[in-house]
Amino acid sequence: MTTITNATVLITGGASGIGLLLGTQLLTRGAKQFIIWDINQSAINTVVAELTAKGHQVHGFVVDVTNVTQIQQTLATMIASGITVDILVNNAGIVVGKPFYEHSHADIDNEMAVNTTALMHLTREVLPGMMERNRGHIVNISSAASLLANPRMSVYCASKWAVTGWSESLRIELAQINSAVQVTTVMPYYINTGMFAGVRSPIIPILKPDYVVAQIANAIHGNRMVLRLPWIVNLLPVLRGILPRSWFDVIVGEWFGIYHTMDKFTGRTR
Ligand SMILES: NC(=O)c1ccc[n+]([C@@H]2O[C@H](COP(=O)([O-])OP(=O)(O)OC[C@H]3O[C@@H](n4cnc5c(N)ncnc54)[C@H](O)[C@@H]3O)[C@@H](O)[C@H]2O)c1
Repeated sequence: MTTITNATVLITGGASGIGLLLGTQLLTRGAKQFIIWDINQSAINTVVAELTAKGHQVHGFVVDVTNVTQIQQTLATMIASGITVDILVNNAGIVVGKPFYEHSHADIDNEMAVNTTALMHLTREVLPGMMERNRGHIVNISSAASLLANPRMSVYCASKWAVTGWSESLRIELAQINSAVQVTTVMPYYINTGMFAGVRSPIIPILKPDYVVAQIANAIHGNRMVLRLPWIVNLLPVLRGILPRSWFDVIVGEWFGIYHTMDKFTGRTR
């Protein structure tokens, strides 16, 4: 079990969407403080003011998680103020959402950096302290897109496939040395946060953010290795393994409509 009571929780991308809701949920479950790292200064200001007014201990830092120097400097500032991270949630993410042939080189690099390498660099900085204390929990927010190849999100899929592989490997490495540090990999289907605005899913319902964060909080508490949401997402690896790829494309892609979910994607308009 990971103890949420009195824990210090650091969530990247914590100023909106799943990150914000999860931080709030963990505070209501007894966490001591919620540390927000986000690139959006005004969202941080609003959230810190609102949660502080409710009596919570919340600190916000403007950090671009793709910048290793900023990661190191911000962690040094936190350590100097006596802040030690018990639960790290690697949550910040972006989606470009267009055919691969329309991506610029900057689109590719940025999406891979935010969604994949940033998680590795931040974890590389936070993990040694957790290993020394033999305590801590790292939560990596991947996606159901790490379990199939969906059109109009090729680089997003690549970034999340990489996260799932890295996160699982890290978990096994820590288990092999009997470390108490836990790793949870989260793979949700579409969630109604606005990140994937315009997405249409005819068969599998789009997830509600409150449900998702409650499940993630339970997974942290229960030291779950993997959380796939909704339940039917657990079938994806099995179906990919046993069905010929052309059948998989027809059944999952066309009958379930997955391959057309992104056809009307607009994403965030800001
Ligand atoms: N929304 C979905 O349908 C869905 C489904 C599966 C997985 N996910 C994953 O869940 C996570 C959260 O998604 P969300 O829907 O809450 O998104 P969101 O857009 O609501 O929140 C993302 C946050 O990350 C921050 N951010 C973006 N780039 C950053 C950077 N370089 N440095 C620091 N912060 C940065 C943004 O400012 C924002 O506050 C993402 O990793 C996403 O890929 C989302």
